[in-house]
Amino acid sequence: MAETIPDLRKVPKARAYAELKGHLDAVLDGVDDEVAEMSTIAAFIFHALGTLWTGFYRVVEPGQLLRVGPYQGSLGCLDIAFGRGVCGNAAAERKTIIVPDVEKYPGHITCDSRARSEIVVPVFGPHSELIAVLDVDSEHLNGFDVEDARGLEQLVSRFAHQRQ
Ligand code: SME
Repeated sequence: MAETIPDLRKVPKARAYAELKGHLDAVLDGVDDEVAEMSTIAAFIFHALGTLWTGFYRVVEPGQLLRVGPYQGSLGCLDIAFGRGVCGNAAAERKTIIVPDVEKYPGHITCDSRARSEIVVPVFGPHSELIAVLDVDSEHLNGFDVEDARGLEQLVSRFAHQRQ
C-alpha cells in the first residue's frame, strides 16, 4: 500500500478535508467493511489533523445505546446512552454538535481530561439509519468550527452509499 498519512495540521481546513477525502477514497477503494473503514478514517483524521482523540461510537441498541468502535487516542469510554454526553445527544438528535469548551457543555462525559473542545458527527447508513457517531476531540479550546462539521460529514457520507 503506497498511501501514507500526510501532515495537514497547517493546511487550510477546506483543502485539508478535500485531501483527506482523496486519500480515504484511494485507500478504501472497493472496501465494503465498516470496521476497516472506521479504523482507516480514525487513523487518517487523528494523524493528519493532530487531534487528541478520534473515533466512532456505534449504535448497538437503536435509540438506546452507543458502544465504542474503532478509535485512535487514549482509552475511550465503552458505553454511552442516547441522550447522554455530546455523543449521546448527537445520536439522539441525529445532528452534528460542536462544543467549543467542554467545561461549558452540561453533561459532557470526560474520557481524557486533556480534552478542551469536541465535535460529534452522526454517521448514517444507506437507509438513513443512524449507525454510529464520529467523535473528534481537541486539546485546544474552539478546536472545531462549521468547516470541520462539513468536512467530517463529507468523510462519513461514504457509509450512506448503497452497498451491494
Ligand atoms: N466526550 C464524549 C465522550 C466520548 S470521549 O470524549 C472519547 C461525550 O461527552 O459524549
